[in-house]
Amino acid sequence: MQDKLIIFDTTLRDGEQSPGAAMTKEEKIRIARQLEKLGVDVIEAGFAAASPGDFEAIRAIAEIIKDSTVCSLARASENDVRRAGEAIKPAKKGRIHTFIATSPIHMENKLRMTPDQVVERAVQAVKWAREYTDDVEFSAEDAVRSDIDFLVRVFDAVIQAGATTINVPDTVGYSIPALWGDRFKELLARVPNAGKVVWSTHCHNDLGMAVANSLAAVMNGARQVECTINGLGERAGNASLEEVVMAVKTRKDIFPCDTRIDTTQIVPASKLVSSITGYPVQPNKAIVGANAFAHESGIHQDGVLKHRETYEIMRAEDVGWNANKLTLGKLSGRNAFRTRLKELGIELESEDALNAAFARFKDLADKKSEIFDEDLQALVSDEFVSEASENYKLVYLNVCSQTGEIPHAKVTVLDNGVERSAEANGGGPVDASFKAIESMVQSGSELLLYSVNNITSGTDAQGEVTVRLARGGRIVNGQGADTGIVIASAKAYLNGLNKLHSRLERAHPQV
Ligand code: KIV
Ligand code: ZN
Repeated sequence: MQDKLIIFDTTLRDGEQSPGAAMTKEEKIRIARQLEKLGVDVIEAGFAAASPGDFEAIRAIAEIIKDSTVCSLARASENDVRRAGEAIKPAKKGRIHTFIATSPIHMENKLRMTPDQVVERAVQAVKWAREYTDDVEFSAEDAVRSDIDFLVRVFDAVIQAGATTINVPDTVGYSIPALWGDRFKELLARVPNAGKVVWSTHCHNDLGMAVANSLAAVMNGARQVECTINGLGERAGNASLEEVVMAVKTRKDIFPCDTRIDTTQIVPASKLVSSITGYPVQPNKAIVGANAFAHESGIHQDGVLKHRETYEIMRAEDVGWNANKLTLGKLSGRNAFRTRLKELGIELESEDALNAAFARFKDLADKKSEIFDEDLQALVSDEFVSEASENYKLVYLNVCSQTGEIPHAKVTVLDNGVERSAEANGGGPVDASFKAIESMVQSGSELLLYSVNNITSGTDAQGEVTVRLARGGRIVNGQGADTGIVIASAKAYLNGLNKLHSRLERAHPQV
């Protein structure tokens, strides 16, 4: 009998801490539904005390998700723990994840607390959490740089107070696999009652070893891995869910445990997270990169054709490549459209929203012969945007770009319900369009990143554009999709501006 390895997904919390990756409630719900379909055991849906919006998003996810445990993060303070407790109340299975830093550098400089005070607060936080649920996780932030004797003391105290999962984070991505494995071995041997709780690992990727460290922890007794889709997360990101899951599945000869993940849902989850957050997946990324299963060299192709396993250790279809179904076409009706959205876990709030999305689908089907699930995801993303507070909306765009001429753009935008137009020259049609928009709205934002991806293959595919904008220390990602790249770019720019406008104050859990 193999042990169960619990997959704790924190895309909606640690992943959301990536610059510009903040998501709306609707976007979080769409991702949560896909995570449930993927079979993750625990969804960390957010940090309830961050803002009323975060609280609402966790609560909504707790109401909808039935098969996965829904968790909220909470600092070890009474207010945070109670907010988390209220947010997860509707959940069929709810968890509170409370944490406090235990390294000297964090305790002295950030918390300004003595070790005794930290132990006392940790115990208290677990006790508050137990008033709401009997599924309580405790994390020792910066465990990697914490004194092992102190960790043993804190973990012993919180287990006695009722913690059921003990998470050991490498908050700053500092460890290496052999040391991380040893740390688990020692903790499991020395902490009293270690066998009564689940041990968890949470690794960041600053030295590119988050997955390797997580797996070393698993080899030494960890039975929960905290990870994110595409390895999204603060700085260099978190351990990537798809890599952890596929390593354990592919090397079942060495791992003493297995997950309940439906691996065919990995690629759809990756694409959804990438499109919602605006973080593209690098082509050579393991498992979910576009080249992960592409055999370029003639020798490899020959080998794969003769006997697949010569060069393939996993099958593309097992992780959900080729799962992109040709779903709908020009003649598909409104009911077929609604049904397919439902199958994808997308529920538009009103009939008006469905009608608007269906009209755009028909429009797209006129331009593109085959419509895939990814096209539908991008299409409804627009619908969720328009349901959210939207100051600017693209009405009209005309660009002129020809050899030997200066590119020129004419743009009309609905600015809080009023149509405004402007024209500008630029280095190219996209630059001209952005300059025309900027001359109208004068946002003063700085363009940090501009990237274009094909949603599906072919020259008639929709282009998905991401722009990262910064203003006053705040960073947002704007997205737009269209079969015309310049139109997708203008939509992405306006989407970014809309996000900059909807300024919501949010607390960062670790600052
Ligand atoms: O990296 C970290 O230490 C965290 C904790 C809040 C678990 O994200
Ligand atoms: Zn983290």
